Amino acid sequence: MTTQTPAISVRSLSKCYGALTALADFNLEVARGSIFGLLGPNGAGKTTLIRILTTLMRQDAGEVLIEGLDPRTHGREIRCLIGVVPQENSLDRYISARENLELHARLHGMAVGRYRRRIDELLELMGLAGRQHDMPDTFSGGMQRRLVVARALLHEPRLLFLDEPTTGLDPQSRRAVWEYIKSIAGRMTIFLTTHYLDEAEQLCGRIAIMDHGRLIDQGSSQELKDKLSGGTIYQIDFADNVDAYAALLQGMACVKGVEIVEHSVCVELVSWECLAEVVTILNGAPVKRISLKERTLEDVFISLTGTGVRE
Ligand SMILES: Nc1ncnc2c1ncn2[C@@H]1O[C@H](COP(=O)(O)OP(=O)(O)OP(=O)(O)O)[C@@H](O)[C@H]1O
Ligand SMILES: [Mg+2]
Repeated sequence: MTTQTPAISVRSLSKCYGALTALADFNLEVARGSIFGLLGPNGAGKTTLIRILTTLMRQDAGEVLIEGLDPRTHGREIRCLIGVVPQENSLDRYISARENLELHARLHGMAVGRYRRRIDELLELMGLAGRQHDMPDTFSGGMQRRLVVARALLHEPRLLFLDEPTTGLDPQSRRAVWEYIKSIAGRMTIFLTTHYLDEAEQLCGRIAIMDHGRLIDQGSSQELKDKLSGGTIYQIDFADNVDAYAALLQGMACVKGVEIVEHSVCVELVSWECLAEVVTILNGAPVKRISLKERTLEDVFISLTGTGVRE
């Protein structure tokens, strides 16, 4: 295995649940040491993909390699290399938080001296040291999530799979998880799914967007935004007469579209060069502010996956 071997390589992967196609001809490559984000609406197939990548499920067709190893034949080796935060917390409810971590460490063959220290560090990091002897059932949802994240990191995996790691976490805990992920980036490959687009933008060097079991697009957050078609959008805030000025702007040749939002007009221009014309026509108008509306990752997501809510 060379340093060029990707951490994850997926080729023509497909998986059906009965008549339902969860993954179809799915292709993906994740470079070692990168933080890769997988986005997609509910039911897109993200968890199904993670289950196959983490040896919990077999594909119907196609190839998967984790650090060059095939999960169908090298499940045991792969399970030593990876840490997993599943979408649903899967803690043992009859033993304490600390015992949950100790059990995981022993299953991974860690020496007592090493895992004691590491458990102390992680409990501290996740703000759970004071509750370590309590049962997970007595924890809040966010505390249970933090315990599951700690468990996934315990054996210092080379590859970390996080299926919606920060769902249910408060802003402080979310930031703590982000900071930790950033601090280990480079030493570990991190593959995460999230519905928080700011999270993907903050953390992920590359982002893939999928829907209906298929990969739609991938790239850095900026590359994905740059691909969005459409002109430059400015928001113009008026002190009054917003309807009249919206109509005036609507009539201009360089204006592609106009939308009124309370006392503001969002105006889409053919290009930024037209802004001078707009400023000229608004000479004397009660303009309070003109601001450029940057495209967001959410704009990309909605444009690629639509606005419809999934069943
Ligand atoms: N065990 C299963 N049996 C039957 N169908 C399933 C099973 N697991 C998932 N599915 C279906 O497969 C599709 C993909 O589900 P999956 O859980 O992979 O989506 P997801 O992208 O993780 O969604 P979410 O964002 O809601 O977690 C969905 O239509 C789901 O109903
Ligand atoms: Mg899921």
